Amino acid sequence: MAYLATHGNNPPCLVKARTTKQLVVHGRPFLMLAAELQNSSLTCAEYMDTVWQKVKDMNVNTLLGCVMWEMIEPVEGQFDFSELNKVILGAREHSLHLVLLWFGSFKNGLSTYVPPWVKTDTKRFPRAKLRKAGGVLATADVLSVFNSDGAYADARAFGKLMAHLKEFDGAYATVLMVQVENEVGLLGDSRDGCAAANLSFIQAVPKDLIHFLEDEWDTLHPDLKDVLSPGRNGEKPSYSEGNWEEVFGRGPRTDELFMAYYYAKYVNKVAEAGKAIYPIPLYTNTWLNYAGDNPDNTFPVVAGGGGMPGDYPSGGPVSNVLDIWQKFAPNLDFISPDIYLNDYESTCAKYRHRNQPLFIPEQRRDEYGARRIWIAYGSYAAIGASPFGIDTVDAKDSPITKHYALLNSVSALVLEAQRNPSSSVGFCFDDPPQRAQPIVRRWGDYEITIEPSFVFGQRGPGAGMVIYRGGARFLLIGWGFQVRARSTSPRATFTGILRFEEKTVVDCGTGELKTQRRLNGDETRSGKFAIMPSEDPDYGGFPIAVTIPARTMIAELEVYALEDDE
Ligand code: DGJ
Repeated sequence: MAYLATHGNNPPCLVKARTTKQLVVHGRPFLMLAAELQNSSLTCAEYMDTVWQKVKDMNVNTLLGCVMWEMIEPVEGQFDFSELNKVILGAREHSLHLVLLWFGSFKNGLSTYVPPWVKTDTKRFPRAKLRKAGGVLATADVLSVFNSDGAYADARAFGKLMAHLKEFDGAYATVLMVQVENEVGLLGDSRDGCAAANLSFIQAVPKDLIHFLEDEWDTLHPDLKDVLSPGRNGEKPSYSEGNWEEVFGRGPRTDELFMAYYYAKYVNKVAEAGKAIYPIPLYTNTWLNYAGDNPDNTFPVVAGGGGMPGDYPSGGPVSNVLDIWQKFAPNLDFISPDIYLNDYESTCAKYRHRNQPLFIPEQRRDEYGARRIWIAYGSYAAIGASPFGIDTVDAKDSPITKHYALLNSVSALVLEAQRNPSSSVGFCFDDPPQRAQPIVRRWGDYEITIEPSFVFGQRGPGAGMVIYRGGARFLLIGWGFQVRARSTSPRATFTGILRFEEKTVVDCGTGELKTQRRLNGDETRSGKFAIMPSEDPDYGGFPIAVTIPARTMIAELEVYALEDDE
């Protein structure tokens, strides 16, 4: 295999695959079936001993968990990796991979994870100031990114961590990637109001930013263009020299641009120190902005959402400043969204900007979230999606168990599809999916329609993906849906099912399949569509047992078309 020869001895890396990149581990493309631990779980090997088997039972292959700056450098310059070593060994023993989350200077817009010697030394590590009514400045629980030793001290600690990983784990690749910081940005104000920040704010906007915006205007994300050229339909503005307000105007959006530029540079400095020593993939994650429904204020803006910069962390890599992060934090391989409240699919699309790989480090762990993972892998070539808080649910109660079991068995096929742009679609139908929009794709000479599967009573939920295998062949994976085909040839007078076969996986490593039942008759509503049934189809009182329940959840479909001779 070409990958093995080229990357077999390399640390985990991202390898270009047409319009995306895949994670390659020990020389093979690897699909992370990931899950994130609660915040403090990975700090205690003894606690983790109660977790490893539980997550294995959920078919998770990669766990995300934190490394806290306060824990590895309790005294300046003295590092302690003993507990981390134990958890790496625990993961290794259970054949699990880890993605480590560096809770350094920033975690959820705050600096609560910095060591005491950083927390208390405001001379070297000044705090950001929040501008309150009447010109009052409040001290925030977050380091200022301006004029601070923070970036240097953080970079030094992060460099030590990466050096340690290289030495302790380089030969094993237990640790696949590292997240640098966590949900960066300023909460409580749209920009830092400390003296050093104010000084930067009245300086001329750095030339590298202006040149970037001008030179790469056509490639900027539409959400950034909207900020820079509001109401002007993406028309390119022209910039003259000036300070931030002179160039971009006054208001929270300009504050956000300013913060994004300086946060990106800070995080880049930290990432650079690690990358230089042990170049495994590095990324940072995003607290997304969300101004949508919050009926009756059922949830406070605590760990997600907020409509304006400062309600959500200002300067964090939300889509309207994503380009700035991609440009000014080049030591990050990609930027990730944490998707809880926002629309899942459009967020996946946004975070594929500039063909960066999609990785979702945090998302819902319930059935609603688990179903959507298929969208990430099937339509957006995700290298991983990771439900949050996995150690506080049991495998038997978690929907992740079932979804990951199926994804694990077909992972070679999913990875292969991801290397062929637009050859697959992932989808889900919620419960009850009566009003679900059908999904339509054109592949080869056929238009394919995917919709919730037929039953006599209530349609059930569904999830899965369809992979186009060339010619008139399609691989159907999942449950609760059905597929119709229509020839796109203007001369076609009939499209039908040539062959529909239930499959199982013989070899997960290669994706080799073997045929089980030959499906026809009721299983296709007599040739109308290929049904991937629900696990528990509803007969709705109908007296004939027409629909079978889901079994292997993998099937191959071949269709054909007839054309009139005249
Ligand atoms: C988002 C953060 O990134 C996570 O670390 C975690 O705290 C969750 N929110 C839940 O609060």
